[in-house]
Amino acid sequence: MTKGSLLIVDDEKVALRNLEHVMKKEGYEVTATQSGANALALLGRQPFDVVLTDLRMEKTDGMQILEKCRATCPDTEVILITGYATLESAVDAMKHGAFYYIAKPFRLDEVRKVVAEALAKTQLRRENRNLREQVEGFQGKVRIITQNAEMQRLLDMARQIAPTDCNVLITGESGTGKELFARYLHHHSRRSEGAFVAVNCGAFNEELLANELLGHVKGAFTGAAGDKKGLIAAAAGGTLFLDEITEMSPAMQVKLLRVIQEREVLPLGATTPQKVDLRFVAATNRNILDMAKGGDFRQDLFFRLNVVNLLIPPLSRRREDVPLLAYHFLKKCAARMGKNVSEISTEAMDLLKAYDFPGNVRELENIVERGVAIATGDVIETASLPDDLRELAIRTFRKKEGRLPSLEEQEREYIRWVLQEAGGNQTLAAQILGIDRVSLWRKLKRYQMEE
Ligand SMILES: Nc1ncnc2c1ncn2[C@@H]1O[C@H](COP(=O)(O)OP(=O)(O)OP(=O)(O)O)[C@@H](O)[C@H]1O
Ligand SMILES: [Mg+2]
Repeated sequence: MTKGSLLIVDDEKVALRNLEHVMKKEGYEVTATQSGANALALLGRQPFDVVLTDLRMEKTDGMQILEKCRATCPDTEVILITGYATLESAVDAMKHGAFYYIAKPFRLDEVRKVVAEALAKTQLRRENRNLREQVEGFQGKVRIITQNAEMQRLLDMARQIAPTDCNVLITGESGTGKELFARYLHHHSRRSEGAFVAVNCGAFNEELLANELLGHVKGAFTGAAGDKKGLIAAAAGGTLFLDEITEMSPAMQVKLLRVIQEREVLPLGATTPQKVDLRFVAATNRNILDMAKGGDFRQDLFFRLNVVNLLIPPLSRRREDVPLLAYHFLKKCAARMGKNVSEISTEAMDLLKAYDFPGNVRELENIVERGVAIATGDVIETASLPDDLRELAIRTFRKKEGRLPSLEEQEREYIRWVLQEAGGNQTLAAQILGIDRVSLWRKLKRYQMEE
């Protein structure tokens, strides 16, 4: 039994050997390398508990190693070692999920202590998860990938309320993962052995939806040749997921309210209601609260459904999830298509990270799927991204203060935004904008944005 596995990266040989020696003496299983590129390859092959890396190195630097860890091995803690000149970027690294940074010159005691703390954190997290998965016993069925604090809070909340019978309303933009959360609730509930039935309320007209949900008895209307069981009855003992709930007609809303209140369903043409025991999870990407206030959705039904509300943030408000999700989908798609694609180039990832994703996670999934499909090597390059990703980024630029901006205002704002997304990196910003650095510089000067 070793104390834990440690990857040490430093392009300075003496410093590297020194740290390697000290950490081995501490009882860690140590892998040491002078090359950042080699470190990235190692991280792709085996899990490490803790990575200790120099921040500034030739070619592949500590930031890239941190990024790879955050994207592909969320359990690994990364500690950066940094000289005075790069202190600012070290602080930035903390924001991007580094465990700690150690300033040079350091005391060995400090390094020992920080590594031990990072390791304890990794192991605790792993233990907790293992326990949880053993208890829940369904790992792999529904996986919600995230490292965003707000999403973690939602997941905790979902886990807490899942075993109860309370109805849940899930809101959020299209493609944010509403249905995934609904399935997550179902799998964590006492009803997980029962059915999960999903109905898109926007996909049927009023009569058809009533027929689908309530079912009918023979002769209920012309053409009803036999009894038909409705989806509400089909979901008994399980969960009924009502997607696009705001599209339900007022008449159907009344019928649904009755089902929820009385816990019984009356099929079309039937005279005696049947008891049903199920949990309702509803979802919408519209502002249902405003609709209920304005009389466009029944308030009483709204309150019945909205016992707990999960509001899923758009992907553009949790950009740290972009690399993680991109790699998740990459693995999935590559396996499904039998292709050996395992990497996303730094440039392609930078574009993805700067993009606004109006279609949220679903759009990212589609982009990665397409990227895997057309990739010729084992890396998704910028060329495998949709040609119009840049244009799309412009098109999603939003209307401000209810009026449309002039071309100059638009350009100025857009440049400012891209620069911000690129972390102030002008080379990257110019690349995203599709112009060269000199042109960008001229524009910055013209718009007095040189600082
Ligand atoms: N956090 C996540 N981790 C892994 N996969 C995700 C995550 N969020 C969404 N997905 C995947 O993205 C796709 C879209 O998610 P989902 O269908 O749940 O979105 P939605 O909010 O219901 O969208 P819509 O409003 O368009 O119906 C699905 O394939 C889902 O599995
Ligand atoms: Mg959906």
